Amino acid sequence: MWSPGILLLALQAIGGAAELASSPEVLPSPKGSGKGIWKTAYAKAQKLVDEFTLEEKVNVTRGFTADNVCAGNTGTVPRLGWPGLCLHDAGNGVRATDLVNSYPSALHSGASWDKNLTYQRGLYMGKEFKAKGVNVLLGPNAGPLGRTPLGGRNWEGFSVDPYLSGQLCAESIIGHQDAGVIANVKHLIGNEQETFRRPYFGVEAASSNIDDKTLHELYLWPFVDSVRAGVASVMCSYNRINNTYGCENSKLMNGVLKSELSFDGFVLLDWNAPHTLESANAGLDMVMPQGGSFGENLTQAVANGSVSESRVTDMATRIVAAWYLTDQDIDFPVPGIGMQNLTLPHKQVDARIPESRPVILEGAIAGHVLVKNENNTLPFRKNPKMLSVFGYDATVPATKNTDKLFELGYTSSPAMGQAVLGTEEHFDQAAKGGTIVSGGRAAANSPPYISDPLGALQHRAAKDGSWVNWDLTSFDPGVNAASDVCLVFINAIATEGWDRDGLHDDFSDGLVLNVASKCANTIVIIHAAGIRLVDQWIEHPNVTATIIAHLPGQDSGQALVKLLYGEASFSGKLPYTLAKNETDYDPYGPCGRAPDDPNPQCDFTEGVYVDYRAFDARKITPRYEFGFGLSYTTFEYSSLAVKVERASTSDIWQTLATVKATVTNTGAVRGEEVAQLYVAIPNSPPKQLRGFEKVVLDKGEAAEIQFDLTQRDFSVWDVVQQQWVLQSGNYTIFVGASSRDLPLSETFDV
Ligand SMILES: *[C@@H]1O[C@H](CO)[C@@H](O)[C@H](O)[C@H]1NC(C)=O
Ligand SMILES: *[C@@H]1O[C@H](CO)[C@@H](O)[C@H](O)[C@H]1NC(C)=O
Ligand SMILES: *[C@@H]1O[C@H](CO)[C@@H](O)[C@H](O)[C@H]1NC(C)=O
Ligand SMILES: *[C@@H]1O[C@H](CO)[C@@H](O)[C@H](O)[C@H]1NC(C)=O
Ligand SMILES: *[C@@H]1O[C@H](CO)[C@@H](O)[C@H](O)[C@H]1NC(C)=O
Ligand SMILES: *[C@@H]1O[C@H](CO)[C@@H](O)[C@H](O)[C@H]1NC(C)=O
Ligand SMILES: *[C@@H]1O[C@H](CO)[C@@H](O)[C@H](O)[C@H]1NC(C)=O
Ligand SMILES: *[C@@H]1O[C@H](CO)[C@@H](O)[C@H](O)[C@H]1NC(C)=O
Ligand SMILES: *[C@@H]1O[C@H](CO)[C@@H](O)[C@H](O)[C@H]1NC(C)=O
Ligand SMILES: *[C@@H]1O[C@H](CO)[C@@H](O)[C@H](O)[C@H]1NC(C)=O
Repeated sequence: MWSPGILLLALQAIGGAAELASSPEVLPSPKGSGKGIWKTAYAKAQKLVDEFTLEEKVNVTRGFTADNVCAGNTGTVPRLGWPGLCLHDAGNGVRATDLVNSYPSALHSGASWDKNLTYQRGLYMGKEFKAKGVNVLLGPNAGPLGRTPLGGRNWEGFSVDPYLSGQLCAESIIGHQDAGVIANVKHLIGNEQETFRRPYFGVEAASSNIDDKTLHELYLWPFVDSVRAGVASVMCSYNRINNTYGCENSKLMNGVLKSELSFDGFVLLDWNAPHTLESANAGLDMVMPQGGSFGENLTQAVANGSVSESRVTDMATRIVAAWYLTDQDIDFPVPGIGMQNLTLPHKQVDARIPESRPVILEGAIAGHVLVKNENNTLPFRKNPKMLSVFGYDATVPATKNTDKLFELGYTSSPAMGQAVLGTEEHFDQAAKGGTIVSGGRAAANSPPYISDPLGALQHRAAKDGSWVNWDLTSFDPGVNAASDVCLVFINAIATEGWDRDGLHDDFSDGLVLNVASKCANTIVIIHAAGIRLVDQWIEHPNVTATIIAHLPGQDSGQALVKLLYGEASFSGKLPYTLAKNETDYDPYGPCGRAPDDPNPQCDFTEGVYVDYRAFDARKITPRYEFGFGLSYTTFEYSSLAVKVERASTSDIWQTLATVKATVTNTGAVRGEEVAQLYVAIPNSPPKQLRGFEKVVLDKGEAAEIQFDLTQRDFSVWDVVQQQWVLQSGNYTIFVGASSRDLPLSETFDV
């Protein structure tokens, strides 16, 4: 059932439906320029595509079935030996195949705030795609950004903050492409909910009605960073923007992406997203998965002049240039070589290499966020003699069947297997079938193993000679009174295809309260595919510690045990705001529609006031603020120095301010700190993230951190001038440990 809040939104949407916004046409489609990093790739691509016939050019732009399970395959050009491309789902790793690794999810990497680790994750994941013969890795995800905390795919992205998302998308893209695969940043744009994400049963997909300023300052921001990082492809989205479908939207593809951002790669359609032949003129370059009629019609359309051959040449050139950019002409395996159907006899292609192991484990450790640690409950001071483990999330699920595990194994809803359309189906908020290391569907993959919490604790117990009790099924379990510690494992699942029903569930909260009523040292661990509220029990005096464990990938249990026993330290910070109550988020739920309304409208009237931008502006105290996370040590911030350069009239990428600050480890142990920099820009949210650096410091050690801020970091989008402008006025720079713990600040005027 819909909550009253969603109904209210639906009514508001209808109120606005009288004057529907629409996207203006921007034609013709700009030709790829082949500048900068693209220079050599374009020269080679133009030379090859010059030799293609029209049919061969069209072949490059459309899908064909092939003898593999790649999500898509382009056509080939046998006459000239061009092998075609295999495109495949990503997220936690290579999907729907065996002998690959399952990395921490993007949300987990977002919680690490670690650029280097995110680059390494991108690199090693990319190497696995290459080993499997996947040319195009369908990631990273810069949208959904997380407008609604219920978004089913929010966990596929790094953070609701565009700056954090943009930085980590860029690191991922560079990593993927260094590994020799084409990255694909998605979904352009406003794909902020699963509800009505695609047209179905006569209902159009939701229209994300986004004003130009909000588009630039929030949703487009990480795409800009992605293009600057050299991303070779972009995926247009299922939803509509201003009532025009994403893959038909010439304003976005021709206007924003290819003109304003000078994007030289190719635009790829999200699988079966609405499109027409006109989409080619609107800037779409590749149709997936089966482009049969599109391909045939495109040839006809060139013949009758409704699409120019030069447009088709540009489409093919952009695609072939991406192939050259990532050196796939040199040593790339046969496309799809490792992507055979697992139920048929197949050759084993083991894509895993030993060098990825530490990156996966470090990544798993780094995305755990410690939010409560009363009287230094953690790390265990001496190895506990008796541990009691509770909750459905503590152990491996009963089935391991590639990524179907994450689609079917966890919830009680039989509809989970059909989450294609974005219908109004609902499923349990908690995945009670076992521990989760990923969310569901396209971004999930099959891990080689799952190091589960209970298994890892048992392993440790065997070594220490401690005693483990467990009861993973009872709602009100008995507790051995001699327990030194009780660990309660709960989760919050989310999946492509559905938005979540809420941010906490009564069964899991009840379980925590039941254990806490009997155990004075109760530690709660939440595996969470998104924001999961804790207010039903966080102030319970027996809940001594709480860990938001996100989605760690295959090394989950091992990472957790290292943290609990102090062999590793917590360094993660929340990449979103954890509120006290659902009502603190506005917008909260996905946009709805009134019964019989075939045209759902989603007005982004909140503008850039999403997550902490909204909490700060509306003076709402969250439970745990954006950027918050505890450590086993303490840090002090000092010596802020701000040097402001002269503003430029044209270059938004020049350095406008250099900021230095000192961070000192004032505690008793070595630890890592994420120093964060926020800026207050006139006529904008009270503060916005514009810098972060993670440093490791020994006890007593200090480090000077430098942030180089560009003019873009201080600018706002001027919708009249259609450019970034630096307003005159006072700007404040804040540096500290979280969005609400900012001991250093300095104001200057421009
Ligand atoms: C959507 O409509 C708004 C309001 O008219 C406008 O500011 C914005 O530029 C439009 N964006 C697109 C992509 O059409
Ligand atoms: C187009 O690609 C298909 C599938 O790879 C291939 O069979 C066909 O020969 C190609 N057509 C041309 C004209 O090269
Ligand atoms: C980056 O991470 C890798 C893998 O964890 C590590 O070996 C390397 O030293 C790190 N580099 C920097 C500059 O921190
Ligand atoms: C191509 O033409 C066929 C037959 O006219 C039509 O059914 C189909 O929708 C067209 N496809 C596109 C993508 O325009
Ligand atoms: C040109 O051909 C395409 C593809 O068959 C068709 O959709 C379109 O209506 C045609 N246009 C004209 C002007 O004949
Ligand atoms: C794999 O092969 C089986 C048996 O032929 C078939 O049922 C299944 O649809 C195939 N899977 C894919 C993804 O092609
Ligand atoms: C933490 O320490 C304080 C002061 O010693 C004490 O009052 C409180 O009960 C302790 N809390 C827990 C959960 O042990
Ligand atoms: C805390 O746990 C103890 C058992 O060790 C129990 O007696 C007490 O009632 C619990 N406190 C609360 C507030 O439930
Ligand atoms: C938020 O407040 C409502 C109304 O008081 C309450 O029913 C709900 O449980 C609260 N949510 C949490 C996470 O405590
Ligand atoms: C900037 O701050 C100074 C000092 O607080 C104040 O006098 C001045 O009015 C401010 N300027 C603007 C444009 O707000």
